[in-house]
Amino acid sequence: MEELIKELRNKVENYFQKDATGHSTDHLERVLNYALFLQFKEGGDRDVVAVSAFIHDIHRIMGSERHAYVSPKESLPVVSQFISNLPLSDSQKQHILFAVEHHEDYGFSGNIERAADIESLILQDADNLDAIGAIGLIRTLQFGFSNGLPIYDKNIPLYQTEFVEGTRDASTIHHIHNKLLRLGEYMNTATARNLAKEKTQLMQDFIDMYIAEVSGKIE
Ligand SMILES: [Fe+2]
Ligand SMILES: [Fe+2]
Repeated sequence: MEELIKELRNKVENYFQKDATGHSTDHLERVLNYALFLQFKEGGDRDVVAVSAFIHDIHRIMGSERHAYVSPKESLPVVSQFISNLPLSDSQKQHILFAVEHHEDYGFSGNIERAADIESLILQDADNLDAIGAIGLIRTLQFGFSNGLPIYDKNIPLYQTEFVEGTRDASTIHHIHNKLLRLGEYMNTATARNLAKEKTQLMQDFIDMYIAEVSGKIE
């Protein structure tokens, strides 16, 4: 497994270097780390989990090159090139492509086709664990700032809005509240659900403190 990642790391780092928007492989390293821990606890093919974790966001780099959203599915030909020379069986390679294709198919609307194999479920959980907690907060704030989103809109009640897939939240705080706070409950594996608890609490505390501070509430 270590050898596989070493080989892949060089190729992927080169690929990410040509990206001017500052995507780095840090997210991939953290997702790999979560994914390996989840695999250790939950089972599944360790090589498939490791490789798919490290390669899952090629679609983001393609998207920033094209200045448009590129779906994970559209990235499969490129992903397939990256893994073609790795010492994996054909069925492992198919499995990696499947996990990459479905890594963003979680969501709160029940009507999407859900992957059910443990490797895909672990990749989704690992990716979502990196979307929450301290790093999740920083990533979300960073995204908000660079896209010119308001930090908060106090005219839109925080506790009455629901996250609807495809719509934009009124502010970054609304997004944290409506989406990130709920990700923990939607984790596929018990191990991830457990890891999410502390991270969710931190985000809840952050929102509560922020609202208290902007509204001038001292006690
Ligand atoms: Fe992604
Ligand atoms: Fe990701």
